[in-house]
Amino acid sequence: MSAHILSGKEVAGRLQQEMKLQVEELKRKGIIPGLAVIIAGNNPASRLYVKKKSEASQKLGIYSRVIELPDDTSKEQLISVVDMLNEDDAIDGILVQLPLPQHIDEREIIQCISPDKDVDGFHPLNIGRLSTGQDTFIPCTPLGILKLLQEYHITMEGKHVVIVGRSNIVGKPAGQLLLNEHATVTYCHSKTRQLAHYTKQADILISAVGQSRLIKANMVKENAVVIDVGNSFDESGKLSGDVDFERVKEIASFITPVPNGVGPMTISMLLYNTLKAAKKRAH
Ligand code: GUN
Repeated sequence: MSAHILSGKEVAGRLQQEMKLQVEELKRKGIIPGLAVIIAGNNPASRLYVKKKSEASQKLGIYSRVIELPDDTSKEQLISVVDMLNEDDAIDGILVQLPLPQHIDEREIIQCISPDKDVDGFHPLNIGRLSTGQDTFIPCTPLGILKLLQEYHITMEGKHVVIVGRSNIVGKPAGQLLLNEHATVTYCHSKTRQLAHYTKQADILISAVGQSRLIKANMVKENAVVIDVGNSFDESGKLSGDVDFERVKEIASFITPVPNGVGPMTISMLLYNTLKAAKKRAH
């Protein structure tokens, strides 16, 4: 039997309708939630993501400011923009789109964002809070995966979650988050030997690598839940996930498509974190 589709698009649409009401509620209290997105350089994928983030926030009634900087922006210029936004009362959330131009150390910039406005959840203080199970801003893609699983009543407690990919943006924080949900977590990455040995043991398999059709049907356990965070282009130039969707869907119990799976959830969680930051102004 073919797997149930985990429709991020559908769930994200529902969540955004709920959040729109929350924005209206905040506005009645005189608070207009504000999100600033900084992009440096001309990476076409990054520009598209930033456009989507800005459009989605405006649709909810969130004040959106996009700051575009040239590729040769200096570290000092970028830090001064972040500092200005840290001090700006109209801005609740600050996001610096990654990757940054090569001459800038991303870690140095992320550390300059006020942890109270760090809606990406990338600041070391917030990562520490996540890893110790405290309330914090949780990185948007892992949080989107959690919400998607919860919406479809997929429990995590005691399940074996195998994560392929160990990036700071997705893989690592996804493991921390699901560990907090009482899953047993295994990390795999580019140096893992016999990847299939691990993936075949997963009750919930999350792939966040960016390699088209890396995960084949013979690497997946019967009735597993398969979450595909990949976004790459296959040999024919078509957008593709990490998972061989057509074959794996015949084995899995639930599966996310690409597009319209995890992607829309990531954007929704950015809006969720921005509202979380704005709500603190109400207290
Ligand atoms: N680049 C790719 N994904 C992300 C993300 O979630 N946040 C930021 N800031 N940059 C990214």
